Amino acid sequence: MAQSISDNIANFADTSNSAPYYEPTANECQLFEQAFKNKLPLLLKGPTGCGKTRFVAHMAHKLGIPLHTVSCHDDLSASDLTGRYLLKGGDTVWVDGPLTRAVREGGICYLDEVVEARKDVTVVLHPLTDDRRILPLERTGELLQAPDNFMLVVSYNPGYQNMMKSLKPSTRQRFVAAEFDFPDAGTEARIVTTESGLDLDRTLGLVRLAGKLREMKGQDLEEGVSTRLLVYCATLIQSGMSFDEAIRHAMIEPLTDDLDVKQGLEEVVRVSFG
Ligand SMILES: Nc1ncnc2c1ncn2[C@@H]1O[C@H](COP(=O)(O)OP(=O)(O)OP(=O)(O)O)[C@@H](O)[C@H]1O
Ligand SMILES: [Mg+2]
Repeated sequence: MAQSISDNIANFADTSNSAPYYEPTANECQLFEQAFKNKLPLLLKGPTGCGKTRFVAHMAHKLGIPLHTVSCHDDLSASDLTGRYLLKGGDTVWVDGPLTRAVREGGICYLDEVVEARKDVTVVLHPLTDDRRILPLERTGELLQAPDNFMLVVSYNPGYQNMMKSLKPSTRQRFVAAEFDFPDAGTEARIVTTESGLDLDRTLGLVRLAGKLREMKGQDLEEGVSTRLLVYCATLIQSGMSFDEAIRHAMIEPLTDDLDVKQGLEEVVRVSFG
């Protein structure tokens, strides 16, 4: 069990001088700073690979606070977040989970894909996300008051969640929220160039192609090609792979297994690049 907690936590003690690169696409940086300053929890919504995780890492660094990230999954329970008693050399000792650590020490607790977690997680989140800002630990009898520099950030992708998995109004209305989407072509090209090293001209061609492939979302595709995949594609080209191959491996194959859909995507590529 203890293993499963640590497997899912990336404790991000970022001591480098510059913040992880993040290109703002709207007012999200100001929103984050305001939310942090006013002790408000933040909900980020958006498709896969559009920059949510990078944004949180960037802001944590900018604000100079530690980041505790938890990737939620359908087996993640409240005690995975709060902690549990473990046997250590014959003794039973309490071990804080990532949420408790963030509340004790301060910092951002970032719950990625929060709707995946078990329902009992909301029970611990509710008193932390209203004006009480407390974390009751039933098992140890403690009542922790979150310090000023504690912030809860959660994210989820509304696209592929079914109705059963969306957040209850009583949970979602405890957060200020921002919707993320893919940036405009110029911004996205700048991101892809910065991340991959590929020149802006070729990157712009890929970004335009991604725009066309994204138009197929909904008809045949669950999710459009992400900024992440664009970065992969540009990285492959930059390291010597041909355009055609890189597009196939980074912008078509990861999107679908369906032969017809693949052919549809390939047709879009052919029309775009002649
Ligand atoms: N605005 C941005 N600034 C800088 N890099 C970005 C931005 N948006 C996307 N990226 C690039 O896209 C990659 C994927 O972004 P990230 O991992 O933050 O996506 P995500 O929204 O957290 O996706 P998921 O929902 O799948 O976890 C990043 O590693 C980075 O290379
Ligand atoms: Mg992420």
